[in-house]
Amino acid sequence: EPTRPFTVPLRVPRPLRPVRLADHDLYRLTTREADVAILPGTTSRVRTFNGALSPLIVARRGRPVVIEQANALDVPFSMHLHGGHVPAHSDGHPDNEVAPGRSRLFHYPNTQLASTMWVHDHSHHAHAENIYRGAAATYVLTDPAEDRLPLPKGQYDVTLQLRDAKIEENGTLVYDLHGFQDRPTFLVNGSPRPYFEVAARKYRFRLVNTSNERAFVLRLGEGEEFTHIATDGGLLPAPVPSRILQVWPAERQEIVVDFSKYPVGSKVVLQTMMTFPGEAPEVLRFDVVRSAADPSSVPGRLRPAPDLGTPTVERQFAMSFDPASQQHLINGRPFDVNRVDFRPRLGTTESWTIENKDTAFTIPHSMHPHLEHFRVVERNGKPAGPSEAGLKDTVTVMPGESARILIRFTDYTGMFMFHCHLMGHLTMGMMGQMEMVR
Ligand code: C2O
Ligand code: CU
Repeated sequence: EPTRPFTVPLRVPRPLRPVRLADHDLYRLTTREADVAILPGTTSRVRTFNGALSPLIVARRGRPVVIEQANALDVPFSMHLHGGHVPAHSDGHPDNEVAPGRSRLFHYPNTQLASTMWVHDHSHHAHAENIYRGAAATYVLTDPAEDRLPLPKGQYDVTLQLRDAKIEENGTLVYDLHGFQDRPTFLVNGSPRPYFEVAARKYRFRLVNTSNERAFVLRLGEGEEFTHIATDGGLLPAPVPSRILQVWPAERQEIVVDFSKYPVGSKVVLQTMMTFPGEAPEVLRFDVVRSAADPSSVPGRLRPAPDLGTPTVERQFAMSFDPASQQHLINGRPFDVNRVDFRPRLGTTESWTIENKDTAFTIPHSMHPHLEHFRVVERNGKPAGPSEAGLKDTVTVMPGESARILIRFTDYTGMFMFHCHLMGHLTMGMMGQMEMVR
């Protein structure tokens, strides 16, 4: 690997500044190539929003955001707010791609509860590469209920985009759709295995896995405890003390780490327990450099578990790889933009069972429906655990296993996608579309 770990500092993104209009915040995001420093002493040609890796948008519940996306790439780009409850015209459906040289407005009403989301491309066939080449923004939605909690705030509330990459010594970022086992460099906010200087107090970390296919199974120091507080759709009902944290592609997991138990001068490594042969496990190092007052705490109750109602419709989703066609299929079929797979009715709760049929190939699969968050109620027929008790939008299922989710469709009609979020699988067909109807 070209760089020794912990030689570059973590970049902590500052929120982008919108134009504040009477009833919404306006952002202009240009998707374009840029040469940025990733490995020390070189630059890498990447795809970005406004020229930077891992930009951050902070939005407020009840205050809409409008993004004007100008596409200065030479490939189409269809902006999608992952986890967003947004009308169909702003959801990044592949039919709404922004061609090179064109621009388009995206409306995000922000009527949903506080959560950490992210923005990425959804143009069919180019999305895996656009994400891999760097175009991923974090989108944090805040609300007054969450503000009232004494959780760490301000400079002690840090977004961390995690991903893998293959970068040559000269800085070239190498992309191969099928090369997901050969991406040994871990990037955090666009820096390779950085270090982060922290105070000896509590921090909130919002982890976003923007990798095409890599799962991070994180462990802190020698396996020390941290507190799991939130998932894709925001806060858990109650904090969950944890020593291992899985972050699958596209998922968000939030934790509070209390560095006050470490003497100033300590160095605490975050590493992943799931690596391919020959890979170094280190992801990020926390260097405890100073003491600090800490008025923050993690309350015993965070946000009540959502009531999604009683399901009246059952659906099954069998996820499988077909070696003959090299396609990834849902219920035996690859994506077809001319096919509507089903039509949920607004006001209805549905129960979905997602089954991973790939025991022969040991391939994990996930399910990510657009538009609505859901709750994981069962894993392999047994009640899901407390770390899945909040709202989710992406659920990963291991070979031979199943998950049952409850999902309630509320207020937007139109066409929305559902798919596996392992980007190679998605590119090779693992997607469908559902049309919300009244
Ligand atoms: Cu990150 Cu269709 O989603
Ligand atoms: Cu898959």
